[in-house]
Amino acid sequence: MKNYVEIKKIIKPYSKILEIEGDKSLSIRWALIASQGKGISRSKNILRSEDVLNTLKCLKNLGIKVKLSKNYCEIIGKGLNSFNYKNKIILNAGNSGTLARLILGLLVHSKSIIKIKGDESLSNRDFLRVIRPLEKFGAKIKSRSGKLPITIKGTNNPQPIKHYENIGSAQIKSSILFAAINTKGKTIIKAKRSRNHSELLFKYLNLPIRIKKRNDYEIIEIEGTKNIKSINYNIPSDISSSAFFIVLTALSKNSKLKIKNVNTNSTRTGVLKILKAMGVKIKISNEKIYKGERISDIYIESTKSFKPIICPTKLNSAAIDEFLLIFLCAARANGISYFSNLSELNKKESPRLKWGSKILNKMGIKTKLTSNSIKIYGNPNLKIEKNIVIKNFLKDHRVFMTCVVAALTFNNSGKWKIFDKSCIKTSFPSFLSKIQTLGANFD
Ligand code: S3P
Repeated sequence: MKNYVEIKKIIKPYSKILEIEGDKSLSIRWALIASQGKGISRSKNILRSEDVLNTLKCLKNLGIKVKLSKNYCEIIGKGLNSFNYKNKIILNAGNSGTLARLILGLLVHSKSIIKIKGDESLSNRDFLRVIRPLEKFGAKIKSRSGKLPITIKGTNNPQPIKHYENIGSAQIKSSILFAAINTKGKTIIKAKRSRNHSELLFKYLNLPIRIKKRNDYEIIEIEGTKNIKSINYNIPSDISSSAFFIVLTALSKNSKLKIKNVNTNSTRTGVLKILKAMGVKIKISNEKIYKGERISDIYIESTKSFKPIICPTKLNSAAIDEFLLIFLCAARANGISYFSNLSELNKKESPRLKWGSKILNKMGIKTKLTSNSIKIYGNPNLKIEKNIVIKNFLKDHRVFMTCVVAALTFNNSGKWKIFDKSCIKTSFPSFLSKIQTLGANFD
């Protein structure tokens, strides 16, 4: 089967209601915490993407019983520190930074050496950010200059740590939190704000965690080794996956869309705030709180005129996975937009700041790129008059899906050919079929 899509026409007006697949961050966290609980945990609507399936596989390799059936996923935990595995096992995290970094946290007390590896993209990413704090707990870690493959050998007496997390990375914070639940004593993290799903899950489970909010950071204190009960969880829809449809609708003509049951945790809704500031019509309704997480319906309409934005850097962390899409809106805006303090974006599945610029340049939009910022010279009347080919982007699922959205919304007298279609399996396997239900045409 060919592994690319060809798109020749923009999408026709639509008016639809959609449900999007489960949240990736929550699916991975639920599985990892359920493996530490005592008894049977069940989740409905767990995301069935490769990142999550790899999480379940790694847990199975660590001796955890996992059952994935049509309607739910079941994990039978035997409590803290109860992994049971053979010597010298290898865990494959595939493409998932979240899985690799969080599971390392759970391994600070592993009894024998465990190796963690990943695909080409993950093997290019920085792990020193978690190696440093996890070594402070007492784990012995060897790596390829801070990159995968990594081997970890835990300690039977991990020590609580104090750590300053100043990148604003939820993966670092969560890796430390997962190490701390198995460690006697109080671990203290001073952390720049980032997504807080782990903290909310821990609070729901009544673990001794305290969070003091300061201006732009938090002090998180957690006491380890308290038994964890099993946890049933209905995973809400992923706002990062929903964002492809939000931006598709905003950029298309005369269309309307409602997306139901989306996780609208405020540490994830930077994209909504930025788009609203750019003039996009978005309405949130039916808000409720589920096990600490906010869930809402999102209504969105096509936008006639996009305002340029000087993006407030305090929104960066809450929009970190959506910037490629936000850049497309800036390309349509009537003026110059500026996004800064974004060096982290080049440390994702591919160097996304560079890719954002590259895609816009291919479309005929001028940009000024530095190692941590981009200026985008928007053009509301852009007409693309050539064929565009997108390839060799390290199979970054978000690059692929952003290009599909661009191809379906920017007038083009040529065609787009976008390679590595199978990478959508990483986070959003039904992406293309959902786009087809809205009427999109592609080969
Ligand atoms: C994630 C955190 C973010 C995000 C990633 C998922 C998580 O990474 O980019 O896709 O689930 O914790 P960082 O925390 O490293 O910024």
